[in-house]
Amino acid sequence: MRAILLATAAAMGLAGCTTVSSEARNTPRAASAPVSDEDARVADLVARMSLERKVAQLIQPQIGSFTAEDMERYRFGSYLNGGNRGPYGDEFAPASEWLRHADEMHVASVQPMEGDEPVIPTMWGTDAVHGHTNVVRATIFPHNVGLGATRDADLIRRIGEATAVEIEVTGIDWNFSPTVAVAQDDRWGRTYESYSEDPAIVAPLGAALVEGLQGRKGEADRLGAGHVIATAKHFFGDGGTDQGVDQGEVTGDIEALKAIHAAPYPAAIAAGVESVMASFNSINGRKMHGNKELLTDVLRGELGFDGLVVGDWNGHGQVAGCTNTDCPQSLLAGLDIYMVPDEWKGLHDTLVRQVRDGTIPMTVLDEAVSRVLRVKMRAGLLDEFVKPSDRPNAGEYELLGSREHRAIAREAVAKSQVLLKNDGVLPLAEGANILVAGSAADSIAQASGGWTLTWQGGLELDNNEHFPGATSIWKGLKDAAEAGGGSAVLSADGSYTDKPDVAVVVFGEEPYAEFAGDRKDLAFRDEEGLGLLRKFEAEGVPTVAVFLSGRPMWVNRELNAADAFVASWLPGSEGAGVADVLTGAVPATGKLGFSWPATCDYGPLNGPEGALFMVGYGRALTDTSPLRRLDENCDALLAHEGAEWFVNGRFADGVIATAGSTDLPDLRGSAAGVTAIGIDRNAQEDSREIAFAPGASLTIAQEGAGSGAYRIVYRVKRRPTQPVSLTVGDVTVDLTHPFSVAAEKDWREMVITGQCAAGLGDSLTFTSQGAFSFDIATITREEVAEGTDCSF
Ligand code: BGC
Ligand code: BGC
Repeated sequence: MRAILLATAAAMGLAGCTTVSSEARNTPRAASAPVSDEDARVADLVARMSLERKVAQLIQPQIGSFTAEDMERYRFGSYLNGGNRGPYGDEFAPASEWLRHADEMHVASVQPMEGDEPVIPTMWGTDAVHGHTNVVRATIFPHNVGLGATRDADLIRRIGEATAVEIEVTGIDWNFSPTVAVAQDDRWGRTYESYSEDPAIVAPLGAALVEGLQGRKGEADRLGAGHVIATAKHFFGDGGTDQGVDQGEVTGDIEALKAIHAAPYPAAIAAGVESVMASFNSINGRKMHGNKELLTDVLRGELGFDGLVVGDWNGHGQVAGCTNTDCPQSLLAGLDIYMVPDEWKGLHDTLVRQVRDGTIPMTVLDEAVSRVLRVKMRAGLLDEFVKPSDRPNAGEYELLGSREHRAIAREAVAKSQVLLKNDGVLPLAEGANILVAGSAADSIAQASGGWTLTWQGGLELDNNEHFPGATSIWKGLKDAAEAGGGSAVLSADGSYTDKPDVAVVVFGEEPYAEFAGDRKDLAFRDEEGLGLLRKFEAEGVPTVAVFLSGRPMWVNRELNAADAFVASWLPGSEGAGVADVLTGAVPATGKLGFSWPATCDYGPLNGPEGALFMVGYGRALTDTSPLRRLDENCDALLAHEGAEWFVNGRFADGVIATAGSTDLPDLRGSAAGVTAIGIDRNAQEDSREIAFAPGASLTIAQEGAGSGAYRIVYRVKRRPTQPVSLTVGDVTVDLTHPFSVAAEKDWREMVITGQCAAGLGDSLTFTSQGAFSFDIATITREEVAEGTDCSF
């Protein structure tokens, strides 16, 4: 990201005011401080900063929660966009708007200061966790679960380089990646962000991404053109929570835990990672955001990390005794930057007060500010105040999803495919007539998973127009078949008139992110793919199963029914990489980074004991040795998931809907001003359109005790013109604003936690003051960590 000084000087001469040197803005003291002497220069800056501006360096709000005027007034040290926000209120804003926003905030942050106070430019952090995927048209690389299967550090370094360039196109400085979690329980919703269950596999791959993003240590362009700041996250224990519960509790002997979960950090630190994100989880009862022994003594002391520690999304608010706006504990424990998406003002005021009253010693504040400034200095942000749009690669929109970057992604897809079974149907015969089935086959959203354009990905994006320049798995197969003199047809439901030579069935998990992806077991329940495989089996059509998932799952039924089975993970925008392997154009070299479960219950979740396929398993295309018939019994499939209230168009036992005093069985019917009709989302009448007459209410409740947060997949066609509310237990949440934001978009999710609806209760009542309608696809309940925010 650092601008080349000469080029900048020239630009200044030509364009006049596009850049302002720090020398011009600051006093001669800053200018004369030796650039090589980081510490002296940082100390000089800190010495001249006001208390308020120092604290602001530690405050990281999200875009949309502050204006350029706020930036000029407070001078936030950094800000983030988060998974569900784009610039100027548009999640799908074009890249030029991202860059315009970067410029606007940068300019606001470098306005002259009064007196001797130094000017410190802000920086922007983003979650480019599998490419710069918050931005339309970016290359979408496979998620880490797939990259781990490649074992290819050089490839991952090149992915880092390509990602850094795409980030620079939009004027952003800092990436919250790589995730170096060592997922131990695949029920965890973030398993796909983990390269492997084995720290020895994770460590070199995480380090390689750091090198790709930042540049290599000792090289002149490190943190310069083509590079951004990287973040190793989440320190530590994110992948080790009990039962894989996101943000949960990790228990055990601390040295044993370090040996697994802290193991990737020395490699990332050796690679020069400039930032580390603290983890949401607790270890032996203490939240990491308040754990000085681990955040300071281990990370900085033992491991020698000298960059900055950034918090996770209101993670400080989860520390015992803290709230989102009051948490000296985190700073005292070694956190440098508070990620405080919305409540930044309250936190800023509290921290200022706490330094004044001595709760936080000035030396602690100064150390944290120094660490932030040191990283900025290394990134070249303090040398010359170059507007983001004047930096290398900025505004070069053709680099976003460039042919070259997509080629790297396609290579990664091919190398990440893991072949679990092949009775000889693979490689697909040249000239074959291929039928491609399954609703996932042509869905780039499903192939990309969470953290794709939106936080949760998928649900709102089941239209490939959101992905210009991308290739679905179907399209990749079609192109390959035609190039080989054969043909391919897409038939999502598997119907055909001319019997095909072979059917490729693409199916798998729907996108999710973080806690929304937590599961109670690893049984893969959706039977669309299974039905297709069995249908083709009965019709004598050989099949290839392509399984899209963020983790290994129990798919014994599908493995039995298919003639070949490929674990495809979450490949992203370059579906042609799947065809490369299926056709044999590229050899199958992917090896499992996670052990594959043999049974559908709760184990084995990790490790070789009883695994169906162990870490390292993956067939070559030439290995056609038979796979024994697998046990298809699965009690978990029969047991009713108590947590599901409304799924696939049905209520779980004990869940009822009422309007007035009339029962609406399976959420269907009309009474007391409420009309609920079946509509199709993924399957026939699996969802409901619910219309309200003015003042009408609908209650959905479960008899007997339930527990957990509510996750509701919904869609709002037209914004409400009068208030709409949701009463949860005895707390009422105003939905008017979230429903207005959601209006005219596609399906999305709301998660109602105790944070906005204390107690949670066992009933949901929607009430609309005006005539209004919205759609519901599913209602489920799930356990989330205490303090988890409500989201809409
Ligand atoms: C996630 C982080 C992410 C942050 C910012 C958090 O919820 O845990 O991985 O970097 O949000 O989007
Ligand atoms: C944000 C994500 C964040 C999550 C945490 C979402 O609304 O967009 O960036 O990770 O909330 O709960």
